[in-house]
Amino acid sequence: MAQLEIRNVTRRFGDLLALDDVCLKIETGEFFTLLGPSGCGKTTLLRMIAGFDAPDSGQILLDGKDLADTPPEKRPVHTVFQSYALFPHMTVAENITFALRMGHFTQSEISARLHASIEQMRLTGKTCKYPHELSGGEKQRVALARSLIKRPGLLLLDESLAALDARLREEVQVELINLQSELGITFVFVTHAQTEALALSHRIAVMNQGRLEQVDEPSKLYGFPRNRFVAGFVGHINQLGAQVLESTPGRLRLSVPGMGDIVAPAQASSLTGQAGIFSIRPEQVRIGIHDELAGLKNHFSGKIQSVLYQGDVSVYRTKLADGVIIEALLPNSAPGRARLFEIDDTVKIGWRHDAGIFFHD
Ligand SMILES: Nc1ncnc2c1ncn2[C@@H]1O[C@H](COP(=O)(O)OP(=O)(O)O)[C@@H](O)[C@H]1O
Ligand SMILES: [Mg+2]
Repeated sequence: MAQLEIRNVTRRFGDLLALDDVCLKIETGEFFTLLGPSGCGKTTLLRMIAGFDAPDSGQILLDGKDLADTPPEKRPVHTVFQSYALFPHMTVAENITFALRMGHFTQSEISARLHASIEQMRLTGKTCKYPHELSGGEKQRVALARSLIKRPGLLLLDESLAALDARLREEVQVELINLQSELGITFVFVTHAQTEALALSHRIAVMNQGRLEQVDEPSKLYGFPRNRFVAGFVGHINQLGAQVLESTPGRLRLSVPGMGDIVAPAQASSLTGQAGIFSIRPEQVRIGIHDELAGLKNHFSGKIQSVLYQGDVSVYRTKLADGVIIEALLPNSAPGRARLFEIDDTVKIGWRHDAGIFFHD
């Protein structure tokens, strides 16, 4: 049995369908992420799991039990908000033990749990400090410690890392992964940042306008997006309007305006004459100067239009004769060399016959 089951949950705010028949099963010990653009319904779903809001229809079950009549404080669930919401006038120790001091816990139980938590969260020496005396990462750890002190079965994290700068965010991500696997507590993590979702999660649910588009492991989501929205939202991708010229087992021949014919892997349901979008990841596109790409089924001539140097990799935008622009991402493995190709270089680009995905309309 799944630990948490969302069963056909729908929620309307006036005319707005914030959640549209959402079904999900989350297993014990999973690091599960709800990923989607701002306004797609992530917080709304999280608030219902926590009990701050209720579905118009559908059910939320925890360990098989419908939560409809369980008030938030009775649910074995805790939420960490984006702002951490630490009490500014309380010390680290007081913040962490707040929930215990409100409950029926003995002084010795409170001390024991605080001690263990301080050690686990590497907050030794910080117990008497106030939130304004802490770094962003320490505040984050105090917020987590406070959430975990009552040992909830389920931790909900709503954009919890959004306020951190890039470097610290990466550090906290690693901590969060370690902490989650150590504790074995189920995390339901909400983010609009796809790289964060890919880095942290066992599984990800991609949401769009109140609906679930795909639920999968990160590498499946990235490698086998089920539709155009997921392909475009998770990672970067080139998207080209295309039409099926020929559909044979395992292979499609597509016509792409401005490029001519290309060969693509077959989608089970694609028929001759169908229109749609051919999508290919920038790291699947290769660039050559001479005829080193001639062995590839798909190759085209163009000119480098722009180069975006990113240190470890560079993104090259190549303009083909008819104006189509294709992005390629190449590693910068030779140190000290900013770019492999220069703007206005005449190049060939190409990709393998089995690269890319066609999504019909
Ligand atoms: N209490 C509310 N009243 C009216 N509209 C709301 C309310 N809460 C959320 N919404 C709307 O529902 C949609 C989903 O919101 P939300 O769940 O906060 O999105 P996300 O967390 O994915 O950014 C948004 O369009 C938002 O404006
Ligand atoms: Mg939100």
